[in-house]
Amino acid sequence: MRTIIVLNPKGGCGKSTIATNVAAYFSMKGKKVTLADCDPQGSSHDWLSIRADKYSAINGIVVENERLKVPRNTEVLIIDTPAALEDKRLRKYLRKAQSLIMPVVASPIDIRAAERFLDELFSFKGSINNKIKIATIANRVREDTLIAAKLEHYLYNIKLPNGKKLPFMTMLRSSQNYINASERGLSIFELPPSKTYYDREQWAPLLRWLNSKRSIPG
Ligand SMILES: Nc1ncnc2c1ncn2[C@@H]1O[C@H](COP(=O)(O)OP(=O)(O)O)[C@@H](O)[C@H]1O
Ligand SMILES: [Mg+2]
Repeated sequence: MRTIIVLNPKGGCGKSTIATNVAAYFSMKGKKVTLADCDPQGSSHDWLSIRADKYSAINGIVVENERLKVPRNTEVLIIDTPAALEDKRLRKYLRKAQSLIMPVVASPIDIRAAERFLDELFSFKGSINNKIKIATIANRVREDTLIAAKLEHYLYNIKLPNGKKLPFMTMLRSSQNYINASERGLSIFELPPSKTYYDREQWAPLLRWLNSKRSIPG
């Protein structure tokens, strides 16, 4: 089962937004998708509950402990995570997933939190990148700001424990499209292409990564 986890303990960085958009993307491609909401706040579960039947089906599960009860026919599992996740649960989910997407928002506090979290992640026993492929994305970026440039510079230069670069996939701009989509249980891929052209372009590198072997451990 293809398993993708969206992770960054910093609240509000866009985990649920990314998780729901990735889930919709794969379901629109005809895959049997399960979206696992591990956050007691239930954002992605709420999103699913307002998603109209005429759109591609996504199966939702709410996860309250470390056990993930995933329907057998699932082809793609997307795990949306909460801000606080105890080590044991985190390790369990990391073992399950092939790919990890880490969204980071452009603010000094978020950049420092990302640094700390990556240190923790990299300190896990065994070089984590042999078992799970990690990619970062900048999210909710206001382009042409100094802090956006700083975030880009930071994300572009992160090194994995093995000395290789941690892939930095893309910058997603701050756009009302994400908010409009989310309040209707939709993804930006289900809004008119003319309105979301720029956002789709920004998503393309991340989707290419998810569809390629680069996001799957060798
Ligand atoms: N690229 C974006 N542009 C505009 N708003 C965004 C974007 N990404 C996320 N948001 C909004 O920011 C808020 C936090 O995002 P969310 O996905 O819930 O973060 P998390 O799950 O990490 O707490 C939500 O209101 C969401 O709609
Ligand atoms: Mg969330």
